[in-house]
Amino acid sequence: MDGVEKELIHLKDYQSVLYGIDEEKENGFPEASKSLLKQIQSADAFIISTAEHNSSLPVALKNALDWLSRMERNVFEDKPMLILSTSPGRRGGKTALSHLEMMMPRFGAKLIGSLSIPEFNQKVQSRIIVDKEIKEQLIKEIESLLTELK
Ligand SMILES: Cc1cc2nc3c(=O)[nH]c(=O)nc-3n(C[C@H](O)[C@H](O)[C@H](O)COP(=O)(O)O)c2cc1C
Repeated sequence: MDGVEKELIHLKDYQSVLYGIDEEKENGFPEASKSLLKQIQSADAFIISTAEHNSSLPVALKNALDWLSRMERNVFEDKPMLILSTSPGRRGGKTALSHLEMMMPRFGAKLIGSLSIPEFNQKVQSRIIVDKEIKEQLIKEIESLLTELK
């Protein structure tokens, strides 16, 4: 990804109280969610990577999306997005990934591709993808995303 400015963010740095309509009415939008929205609006494209908890999205990601969607329906402003999932098991968080595939276009994401990485602990070591096939697939997906930016 030479010549592309990248920023890695973790949702744990943008933690907000659990979304609820009463919470929103009483206390408004959390500062962390407002700053996450600003961060998103400053980007030209997105790679979102998720784990899977009990066959669904981790609550941190669902909660972040719930708050974002209340502040701005077109959260991702029709910008391109690649979505990834992984888990220690053989399914690689595929169910969470399919949930994201359904949800993201509703929030204005232009979905370019998706990839699930199974058996994380075997295929990724010391933050490096050691599985050749997965690495090639990921590079292909990233190239498709970058083509959208030209
Ligand atoms: C409560 C809980 C439920 C999980 N459920 C699933 C699951 O349904 N499918 C799956 O592939 N992995 C599951 N995992 C493994 C997670 O996807 C993941 O590898 C692990 O939690 C690390 O990511 P985290 O830091 O976001 O929790 C689960 C983990 C936890 C703690």
